Amino acid sequence: MLMSDSPLAQTFNSTSSEFDRITPLLWGPAGQSLAFALELAAGDSVLDVCTGTGASAIPAAQAVGPDGIVHAIDLADDLLEVGRLKATSAALRNIDFVCADATEWEAPSTIDTGYDALACSYGIFFLPDMDITFSRLVGLVKLGGRVGVTVWRKGAVKEFGDAYFEVIERHSPGGGHTGPLSRTGYESNPLRRVETSETLAAWLEAQRCESVRVTELSNHVPATEEFVWNFVLGSGFRGALSGFDDATRDTIRAEFLELLTARGIDSVDATTLVATGVRTA
Ligand SMILES: C[S@@+](CC[C@H](N)C(=O)[O-])C[C@H]1O[C@@H](n2cnc3c(N)ncnc32)[C@H](O)[C@@H]1O
Repeated sequence: MLMSDSPLAQTFNSTSSEFDRITPLLWGPAGQSLAFALELAAGDSVLDVCTGTGASAIPAAQAVGPDGIVHAIDLADDLLEVGRLKATSAALRNIDFVCADATEWEAPSTIDTGYDALACSYGIFFLPDMDITFSRLVGLVKLGGRVGVTVWRKGAVKEFGDAYFEVIERHSPGGGHTGPLSRTGYESNPLRRVETSETLAAWLEAQRCESVRVTELSNHVPATEEFVWNFVLGSGFRGALSGFDDATRDTIRAEFLELLTARGIDSVDATTLVATGVRTA
């Protein structure tokens, strides 16, 4: 199977029209924070994996300046195309958006001794075998280089996700949805291992990083109808809608909004952990 045909790539490719509508509220603040926390310097080389439309890669490119370079890679070429347009309108020429699988990425020969920094915003939990894949990526960073990730904090997006999958299950004869964000998949999601400052710091240390710092980015987004449905359509939540026809999707949307109202959920907890460390071995 071509990587652009994988179910994950198809899901994220299909998000491309809604994905960036939530960037100002969701992906953007975390991406900016991550690029800032990495303390990038002019001329640095950066590998940004699971880059989407460049929420962390674009601020990284701005930070490293014209003598630096950012390799922004993702499986979903439709999201990368949005990122390319954003970079062009920001007059950035030091960022390459490449359709590639993070599990296989090798640094080109221009990155002779390794990247100065590795960034991954809301991506590590999508990687097959998170520890092994991320460890390989850390190996592409030079000794003394920086490594940074963002992840949802424990409990973030949970009320939202629970209500969403409850409605999905009502319309799924023969069993509920079993994806990583579903209620059945929630406990086994690798994200559960890195959802507190302590466990995320310990995980980065186990990934050969020292001087690990974790900060909490509090973010409570008003649950307007517009935001709620753009979040579903512009994220991995969208995958659960793939088997339904348009009429059923409309019903799911209406029932989901009703359920959020009935539960008094008037904001989405999008609190995020931003972690960085220095590669030492
Ligand atoms: C939730 S989005 C985050 C995107 C971006 N970092 C941001 O914060 O806006 C996760 C992204 O990871 C990408 N992805 C998942 N697995 C991947 C892999 N093995 N290699 C490259 N990209 C991957 C998806 O295509 C998707 O664009």
